Parts: sequence; structure tokens; C-alpha cells
Amino acid sequence: MRMRNKYRKPTTLRCNAGSRCSMSAVVWSLVGCLLILHLYSIVHHKDGVGEEFQMRMSHHPQFHELQKVEEVNIQIPPPRGKRSPRAGKRRPRRTTTLIDEFLDENSQLRHIFFPDKKTSIGPLKDQGNDSYYYQPGRIWLDTEGNPIQAHGGGILYDEKTRTHYWYGEYKDGPTYHAHKKGAARVDIIGVGCYSSMDLWAWKDEGIVLAAEENDETHDLHKSNVLERPKVIYNEKTRKYVMWMHIDDTNYTKASVGTAISDYPTGPFEYLHSQRPHGFDSRDMTIFKDDDGVAYLIYSSEDNSELHIGPLTEDYLNVTSNARRILVGQHREAPALFKYQGTYYMITSGCTGWAPNEALAHAAESIMGPWETMGNPCIGGNKMFRLANFFAQSTFVLPLPGFPGSFIFMADRWNPADLRDSRYVWLPLIVGGPADQPLEYNFGFPVWSRVSIYWHRKWRLPQGWSGLK
Ligand code: GAL
Repeated sequence: MRMRNKYRKPTTLRCNAGSRCSMSAVVWSLVGCLLILHLYSIVHHKDGVGEEFQMRMSHHPQFHELQKVEEVNIQIPPPRGKRSPRAGKRRPRRTTTLIDEFLDENSQLRHIFFPDKKTSIGPLKDQGNDSYYYQPGRIWLDTEGNPIQAHGGGILYDEKTRTHYWYGEYKDGPTYHAHKKGAARVDIIGVGCYSSMDLWAWKDEGIVLAAEENDETHDLHKSNVLERPKVIYNEKTRKYVMWMHIDDTNYTKASVGTAISDYPTGPFEYLHSQRPHGFDSRDMTIFKDDDGVAYLIYSSEDNSELHIGPLTEDYLNVTSNARRILVGQHREAPALFKYQGTYYMITSGCTGWAPNEALAHAAESIMGPWETMGNPCIGGNKMFRLANFFAQSTFVLPLPGFPGSFIFMADRWNPADLRDSRYVWLPLIVGGPADQPLEYNFGFPVWSRVSIYWHRKWRLPQGWSGLK
């Protein structure tokens, strides 16, 4: 039996003479207003970031330049009978694509991807007005006039010396195939280190972690693989800590190695390798968050997913805490960065030394969930964008003083002669709504767009100094 509640409050309100609104309508209108206000504040917050950035940008006309879309027009030559075996492997091939041309050592377009020595850039050469200009793909010379050897690298800004240190694979040795079907390789020589105040003129600081010549059981024996070294500083232990991908010739060891030093310029003492959290680990990077917690991010489960987890306080080990991210997406070459509390990451697909499409990902919490936003590349031409400007991500460097602006660092691998792999540094800008916001907040995108702008030639804004 239905009981009438005599204490039930009336559900209607008298609005004005003659008209009555339902209570629920009023409540829902109120909720609606609040929701709209909330959404407005979210959008406004994101826009505000953009505005602040735009304002700063407007003070630096050169930053406007960096966001100009620069097209590249390349005519693909008609297919020839004989192609290099490297390009030939990519069958079935109905049409000649730019990637085929890129991989063909005899391509007529070779000079576009790998311009010759005459066009090299660097502080020793009389660069005239070209000083401080990055020219992606050109040979880049250090302060002694030698090509920089810091592949698959990353940059540490050292507060103590107010200097940037660039660490990477020193690959100045012959390229060969250890096995017929194996990847092209260079024996381990070590980790190269270069220092710079302006991020353009780099001084060779030598090999800060060297290969082991004799002991075949050593991780760093020259017959093994040392890739993607990254260094961070631990304030508590006052040590510079290096993490790197350690592998055997066949990439079956799939481990990470660690090394430490008292100085950014080494020498680094190699500690050991491990399979983090008990998993295979190939391409990797480390990321130090604002709160001092550092994370290891690595491709695992045969490169089908990435794993991420915090390091111990001394940065020398992983903890038991780790998450699987981008599961089933087959991504590698992770490069992580943070802007306004959001974490971003650029990754590549898994095609060895051959270029492929980059993707940008974002997360509110570094441990995930991570969302994939899409291809960040802007400009060039369609193939440039689909091949990440013929390069593979390795690091994203924040530009202090210019919120939302970063240098995207990538490697243009030359599998025929790995020592001659080139550097592709381009401006990366976070701002504006993302193209493919997979995650929605009541219909509004949560993430900002990550854009990497192609430029044949660009420089940091003149007001920028390497000093914080
Ligand atoms: C790539 C990887 C490089 C290197 C190469 C070997 O996928 O990103 O660091 O390992 O494979 O073929």
C-alpha cells in the first residue's frame, strides 16, 4: 500500500504569478549552469595556458617563425632496376615511396636525407649568419670540428656548472652485420659526452663510459649492445646516474644497465644490468619529475607494450611498483616530458633503424593511464610526417623561460653507416586542443596538442640563454 508522506516537501516552486516550474527543472538548470561554468573554467584554464604562451610568444617573433608550416616538395624519381638490398627488403613494393628512397644508399635523393660534409654545421666553420641555426640532417661538428657522436642520446642540465651535457652512443666505428639477418651494428665504443652553454656549440668531453675490450663476459664487451644512455643527477647522493639499454648482439639479453659518477663528465663506473621487474627491456628512457622522483620507462613483452615505474631514492634500482602502458601498441624510443602538470611522451613504431610514424601520448598521472593523441608532426610533406621527418625520437628538452616550448631530439639513423647517422632537432610546442582527444571530459578534450614543426633551418629565440 502506498503511504502518503504528509511531511513531504512540495516539489514545485512558485516562480511568478501564474507560472509554476518544476523543482527538478530548477535543480537541473542549476546543475547545468554549474557544469557549464566548470567546463568553461577547464577550457578557459587550457586556453589561459595558450594565451599566456601566446603572449610570451608575441614577445619573441622568432617563436612565431618556429610555428610556421614549412612544406617540402620532393619529386620521387621513377623506379630503377637495381636497388640497394636494404631498400629491396621492404617488399611488396608497388610504388616507390620516400622511405624506400631513404633506405636506398644509391638513391638520387640521398643528399636530401644525408647532406654531404660540405654542408656541415658547427662553431669552427665560418657559419656567417648561420651560426646557432639547427639544420636537421646535416653533419653537426663539435668545437674541434669533428662530427658529434651522441646518438640515441639525451641532455642533462647541470645546475652546478650551469651547463648542458649531451650523452649518447659513440658510434664512430665500422658498421657490419654480426649475422646475416641481424640488425646493422657498430661495436660498443662507449657513451660520448658533449657540453654546451648555448645548446649549439658542443665541446667533446670524451667517452665517459668506455667499452670493455677483453672480458667477453662483461656487459660492455664491445661485441654487445649499449644504446640510449640517459643521465640524471641525484641531489641526495650527489651522484650522476646513467641508465642505458644493454643487450647482446642478437638483442636477446634485453636488459637495462646503470652506471654512476661524481661528475657530469665522468668517468662513470658501470654497476650492473638487470631485467627490470623481471621483464625484457629494450628501448628505454628515464625521467626525473619535479618532486625528485625518477622513473624508468621501457619497451617490454617483445616491444608490444611499455612499462613504467619509479626508481629507488638513489636512482640505482627500480622499485616493485610498475605499470603496463600503451599495451598492444608496439611502441619504442620513448621520450617523456611534462608541461603544466600533464605528462607527455613521443614514441616511434618498431621498425629497427628504418623510420616510421611518431605518436604523441598524454597522461594526467605518470603511472597512467596513458592516452594516444596522434601524430605530432607538422610541415614537411605527407611522407615526412609519416616517417617522423625520417628520424626516431630520443629525448625532449624543455626550454627554460619558454613555457610549453621544447626541443624535440631525434636520430636519423643511417643503417649503411651508423656512425654517419644524423641529428634531427626541431621545435616542439604544447598548446591548443589535441587532434584526436581519445579521453573526453564531458565532451571537452583534456589534452593539449603536441606539435613538432619541420624546419630546414631554425634557431632558438635570440633572447634565450642557456642559463636559467
Ligand atoms: C630500433 C631502436 C634502436 C636500435 C635499433 C636496432 O628499433 O630504437 O635503438 O635498437 O632498433 O635495430
